[in-house]
Amino acid sequence: MSETIQVEVTPREEVSETAVLEVRDLHTEFGSRDDPIAAVRGVSLQLHRGRTLVLLGESGSGKSVMARSVLRLYGRNARITGSVRLGDVDISAADERQLQAVRGERIALVPQDPSGALDPLRSVGSQLVEVLRQHGIVPTRAEARDRAVELLRLVGIPDPKRVVKAYPHQLSGGMRQRVVIAIGVSCNPQVLIADEPTTALDVTVQAQILELFGALQDSLQMAILLVTHDVGVAREVGDEIAVMYAGRIVEHGPTAKVLDAPAHPYTAALLASVPTPGIARGRLSPIPGRAVLAGESMSGCPFAPRCQRTVASSWLVEPDLVSIEPGRFVACSNPIRPEERIAS
Ligand SMILES: Nc1ncnc2c1ncn2[C@@H]1O[C@H](COP(=O)(O)OP(=O)(O)OP(=O)(O)O)[C@@H](O)[C@H]1O
Ligand SMILES: [Mg+2]
Repeated sequence: MSETIQVEVTPREEVSETAVLEVRDLHTEFGSRDDPIAAVRGVSLQLHRGRTLVLLGESGSGKSVMARSVLRLYGRNARITGSVRLGDVDISAADERQLQAVRGERIALVPQDPSGALDPLRSVGSQLVEVLRQHGIVPTRAEARDRAVELLRLVGIPDPKRVVKAYPHQLSGGMRQRVVIAIGVSCNPQVLIADEPTTALDVTVQAQILELFGALQDSLQMAILLVTHDVGVAREVGDEIAVMYAGRIVEHGPTAKVLDAPAHPYTAALLASVPTPGIARGRLSPIPGRAVLAGESMSGCPFAPRCQRTVASSWLVEPDLVSIEPGRFVACSNPIRPEERIAS
């Protein structure tokens, strides 16, 4: 082989350990075939044991659709293609029974809107007990009850012995969110997909939940896909960041590199539009224009109309996500070069 001498620059994250979850070329469309709404347009990513990948992007970029599509949580109105492999299970080819077996136990989703995730007619405790019993986590109902209280305590619910008996409508939105997180982590899944899990929570509870994820990750080597539009959270918990725009990943790489020296103009614009804790950035500059909506017709790069670095080809072809350095990928015809990044 010709490349045998080029082995010295492989960073740790490049060492190809087997991914726990591998998503390849995922597409999700809604609506009719004649007039489809393409919400996710060819996303590929891998999650590794004990590591967190953050999916960052503006509202409407397809983050939630992507998260739900991985678990195939859509009915017939969605067309999902591409492959999703969870260890030895090919989720993309699994039937409903196989999906039921892996969901919750090996891969869990904390959905963005917790209200739909809880049964309004049953107490919080009975819902937690059911999940624990269903997956055989605890042998007896009494132990499941104790474990349910313990899980509620873990997610920062004060007075868990009272809350375990409560019905969802008796709890505040933030409390319900924490109950949904407790259900998500209850079976110690290998993979946790958490869709904006802390957005509705105040800062102290947010820190507590992120700490809980960190602790579970340390003890169980859980792989986490965290969906957020909060750059501060992304920086704090992400090993890697994938930035999504108009249904595709436009930049992907190690957290510090993506956030400190973005290569895609959209990432740079996104960072300039939000306050960064601890860093004085002067005035914030909102991204001009608006994001394309899923289903809107477009040609070329979907960010081109809002971008200050467009070149002729930006209007003609949508760039592929290509490697710019080991572990780092960008989809742009005119990416920000390293020397420009240092100068800015
Ligand atoms: N069930 C559905 N049917 C049709 N279109 C949908 C459906 N769900 C989502 N979409 C569309 O797909 C696009 C992506 O939505 P998605 O909810 O994934 O965005 P998001 O990145 O999670 O945004 P946010 O940050 O606001 O949560 C949006 O344009 C949305 O309107
Ligand atoms: Mg969302």
